[in-house]
Amino acid sequence: MSAKVAKKKAPAKKGAAKAAKKAAPAKKKTSVKGQMYASLVAQLRSLLKGEYDFIANAANFSALVYNSLPDVNWAGFYILQDDVLVLGPFQGQPACVRIPMGKGVCGFAAQQCETVIVPNVHEFPGHIACDSASNSEIVIPLFDGARVLGVFDVDSPTLKRFDDQDAEGLNELVTVLVAHEEGLDE
Ligand code: SME
Repeated sequence: MSAKVAKKKAPAKKGAAKAAKKAAPAKKKTSVKGQMYASLVAQLRSLLKGEYDFIANAANFSALVYNSLPDVNWAGFYILQDDVLVLGPFQGQPACVRIPMGKGVCGFAAQQCETVIVPNVHEFPGHIACDSASNSEIVIPLFDGARVLGVFDVDSPTLKRFDDQDAEGLNELVTVLVAHEEGLDE
C-alpha cells in the first residue's frame, strides 16, 4: 500500500485506488502526539486572535506546523483557483507553483475531497516531487461546506512518518483556520 485515505467518499482512480484505504478510528488525545496537536490548536487560536487576513494567518499556520512537528521538511498550502491548485503560504524549499486538479498527491486529495496519507511517495502514481528529500506525505483538504478551497500539504524525509493521529490533528487545525476566516469561531 502506498497511500491511504481518511474519509473515502468515491472510488479512487486506478493507481491511487490500489493504494487507498480507510483510516482507522481516531485515537484519544491522551497520547503524546494527541497532546501535541491539542497544544498546537491552542497556539493557533492565539495566533489567529483578531486577525482575519488569510495570507497572514495561513503563513503563520505553516510556520507553526513546520516548526512544531518533528521530522518534516515542507508544510504549506495550495489554494484552488479555477481547477488548479496554486502555491500559497508555506515553509520549506521552493515548490512547484501550479498543480492541476487530480494530479499528484495534492490534486488527488482535492479531487477526492479526502485526507490522503502516503507512507512512501515513490510508490504513489503521479507523485510530484518538489523536494527530493521528501519520502512520505500527508495532504488535508480545506472545505467551505462541501466546496474544496485548497489543501494543506506536509512532507517528511522519513518513510511512514504520518498516521491517523496526524490526519486527525491536522484536520482539526485546518478546520480551526477556515472557521476563523469565516467568522464561525466568534
Ligand atoms: N508532492 C506534492 C507536490 C507538492 S510538494 O510536495 C510541496 C504532490 O504530489 O502533489
